[in-house]
Amino acid sequence: MSIILIGFMGAGKSTVARLLAEDFIDLDQLIEQKIEMPIAHFFALFGEKDFRRIENEVFESVLQNQAVIATGGGIVESLQNVEVLRSHPQVVFLSADFATLWERISADKVNVRPLAQDKAAAQRLFERRKKSYEAVADLTVDVTDKSPEAIVQLIKERW
Ligand code: S3P
Repeated sequence: MSIILIGFMGAGKSTVARLLAEDFIDLDQLIEQKIEMPIAHFFALFGEKDFRRIENEVFESVLQNQAVIATGGGIVESLQNVEVLRSHPQVVFLSADFATLWERISADKVNVRPLAQDKAAAQRLFERRKKSYEAVADLTVDVTDKSPEAIVQLIKERW
């Protein structure tokens, strides 16, 4: 059974996934392989709707794998994905308050997030999605003051 990591941008999903398993699956990376361009370029060219369509396809295609899967923050934008996550028994929500996440997002100059260009808009997105993350999580880890190693430890204690 796969462990699926969810949470808002900046929560550390990919970092934790990499530490949990060497051969983890990073959804954003798979999407970029498929679209053959950075996600930010794709958003600018085609918009969010097309991105979500591809994100859903890629998510569906990896679900059967026995793996650690790092999702993108918007995975809960699709009701179908929410249902899949709800029925999946090993979903980990990496949780933090918005100020902490925004600090991390702003500091990350490598990974450009099209939906985090405006702080107020990102905060609204965060408030709305938080409920969905909570609703589907089997384990919630507050990542605020924890190292990636400490987070991994907590997940391993559970499963
Ligand atoms: C998104 C989060 C990003 C990426 C895309 C959209 C979102 O992933 O999938 O920019 O809607 O929150 P991270 O959560 O890994 O930054």
